[in-house]
Parts: sequence; structure tokens; C-alpha cells
Amino acid sequence: MHCHLNVRETVLKRARITGTGSCVPEKVMTNADIEKFIDTSDEWIVTRTGIRERHIISDDQNTSDLATTAAKNAMEMAGVTAEEIDLIVLGTISADYPWPSTACIVQENIGAKNATAFDISAACSGFLFALENAVAQIKSGRIKKALVIGAEALSRIIDWEDRNTCVLFGDAAGAVVVEAVEGDRGILSTHSHSDGSYLELLYQPGFGTRHMPTEEALKNRNYFLQMRGNDVFKVAVRMLTEVAIEAVEHNGMTMADVDLFIPHQANIRILEATAKRLKLPSDKVYINVDRFGNTSAATIPLALDEANRGGRLKENDIILLDAFGGGFTWASALLRW
Ligand code: UT7
Repeated sequence: MHCHLNVRETVLKRARITGTGSCVPEKVMTNADIEKFIDTSDEWIVTRTGIRERHIISDDQNTSDLATTAAKNAMEMAGVTAEEIDLIVLGTISADYPWPSTACIVQENIGAKNATAFDISAACSGFLFALENAVAQIKSGRIKKALVIGAEALSRIIDWEDRNTCVLFGDAAGAVVVEAVEGDRGILSTHSHSDGSYLELLYQPGFGTRHMPTEEALKNRNYFLQMRGNDVFKVAVRMLTEVAIEAVEHNGMTMADVDLFIPHQANIRILEATAKRLKLPSDKVYINVDRFGNTSAATIPLALDEANRGGRLKENDIILLDAFGGGFTWASALLRW
């Protein structure tokens, strides 16, 4: 009897994004709107952050609603049905419930009855951590089609009486379909890193088991998102730069090979400082923080979907995705579109 190894089956598959989708709530809150209820100014917010407006969910909407619409839009573009989805990974820090996962709610909403579904907690790096997980599962041969989502309703976890943070954030969701493919086009690499020693620079003290929502905690308002912005800023620029260099060097490329850089949208000054260090010209840096603010795990898939539907992504373009967030966590993905 003759037996031979089927080489095609043992070669690791490539993972490629075959569809993108996003969803932002209708309601727009401008800096002028915020000026009405807190001591701030449009001038301060624009100069320090580049943010002009953000979208805020309505009372009857939740994170899972934004995620579901974004997922449906991505699936429609990819031409895949809900039954074909093997995996749903969703990055969020503003889930519908502490548990179970918002990914399970999306699974039910879209009818993806064959999928494994779970959330990833990596703050603003949540989408890229989720993407890395899907890519690894595709490459291992365990799955063929995944939905990767970043979704946030940050307006529900920020302190609207704290001007240091409330002006910065917005609500949105973005999603991609990732499929096992043959060929050179697709996700060339992913990298992710964490450092828990920075936890208290950016975190949400309440709603977990450590600080229960006692009357005192509610009175002190210390259960919302808290950030030491200035300290976060410096580490963010350093790590976003390092992980971008790691991504291109890993693929034997240089920054000159990158056609479009889509970084996490936290603050225009962080984006510009990172791009400058990487010597990337401004026409290669995607910016939409002015219109949406920082939507945490949603910024990258939202920007990717905008760029894709806006015709900015050409076949074989090299696209660099780069994120930094609470934990601290930071991550990258390099794509050949
Ligand atoms: O998503 C990933 C992680 N997040 C980030 O990457 C965000 C990182 N940090 C930042 O984007 C910036 O640090 C901020 C935008 C949060 C703050 O900008 P900054 O240039 O670092 O300002 P600062 O924190 O040093 O504050 C400067 C001043 C302070 O007043 P004093 O103490 O100098 O008198 C603040 O009280 O600005 C004051 N301030 C405000 N003034 C008007 C803070 N927030 C406001 C506000 N309006 N909304």
C-alpha cells in the first residue's frame, strides 16, 4: 500500500479580509454641545485632541446593536451567510453585560448557529487582538470563516462630569469577515503585546468584583473610565511606533512599502507624533478622529471600512494597522489588500 503526505493540506492557509462593515449611531454630539454642560471649549478640544464631534447611542440602543449591524454589513460585502461563520470574536470594554459575551448576542442576532463566540478584553487594542486570534485559528486549519468585531458604547462608561475624559470618546462598531484563502493577498502578520504594570493609568475601577456599586462608590463617581491622559500619551506614541516597525521589519519591508497607515484614533497629536517618528507622509495616514472621537476597539475596523468603501484601498496595497490601549496593550497587523 502506498501512502503519501498531502502537502497542500499541511501548508498553513492565509487569512484575508473579504468584507468590511461598520455602524455609527445617528446622534451627533459636537464640541459646542459639550460646552453647554461642562467647563470646556471647542478650541481646547480641537487643539489638544483634533476631535470636533462624536456619535452617541440612543437610550434604546446597546453595544450589541451596533456590532450586529456592522457584522451584517461586512457579511454582505463578503457574500457569506451566517451559517458559514465558524467564529465570532469581539473586542469591547463596554459590553452589554459583564457576562455573557456580547459576541454571543451578535451570534443570536445574526443566526450564526455554527459559530463559537466570545469577547476579548484588550481595550483599544481589542480589535487587533481579536483579529490575531481569528488569523491563528484560520492558519491552524481549525476554522475557515470568522467575524471579527470591535464595538463600543463608551458613552455609557464615561463620567460626563469629568472634562478630562468625557470629551474624548464616542460610540461605534466595525467588523470584518476573515476567510481562509490561497495566494499572496491577505494578512501578512499580526503582533500583540501587554504590560499590566500600567493598569491604573487607564482603567475602569467599578462594575467588576473589586469595587462593587455601593452607594458610596456611586456617590464618588469612581466607577467610570479613568485616565491619566498625559502619562498615557507618552507611552502610546512609543509603543505605536515600536509595534509598527516590528510589523514591517518582520515582513522584510520598510515604511516606504506602506501604502496606508490606519492607526488607532485616540488623539490627532498621537497620530501625528507616531507618523512623524515613522517618517510616514500625512497622505498615507488615515484620520477620522475629528468626526468620531476615540471609539476604542471600534476605531480601526471603522476606519478600515470607511477607507474600503471610499475606494482608498487598492488590490495589493500594503496596509498597516496599529493600536494601543488600556492594560496596557498594543498590537499591529500588516495586510496585503
Ligand atoms: O485610547 C488609547 C488611550 N488614550 C489615549 O491615547 C489618550 C492619551 N492622552 C491624550 O490624548 C491627552 O493627554 C489628553 C487629550 C487627554 C489631554 O491633553 P494634554 O495635552 O495631555 O493635557 P493635560 O492632561 O496636560 O491637561 C492640560 C490642562 C489641565 O489644566 P491645568 O492643570 O494645566 O490647569 C486640564 O485641567 O487642560 C485641562 N483640561 C481641559 N480644559 C478644557 C483637561 N481637559 C480639559 C477640557 N477642557 N476638556
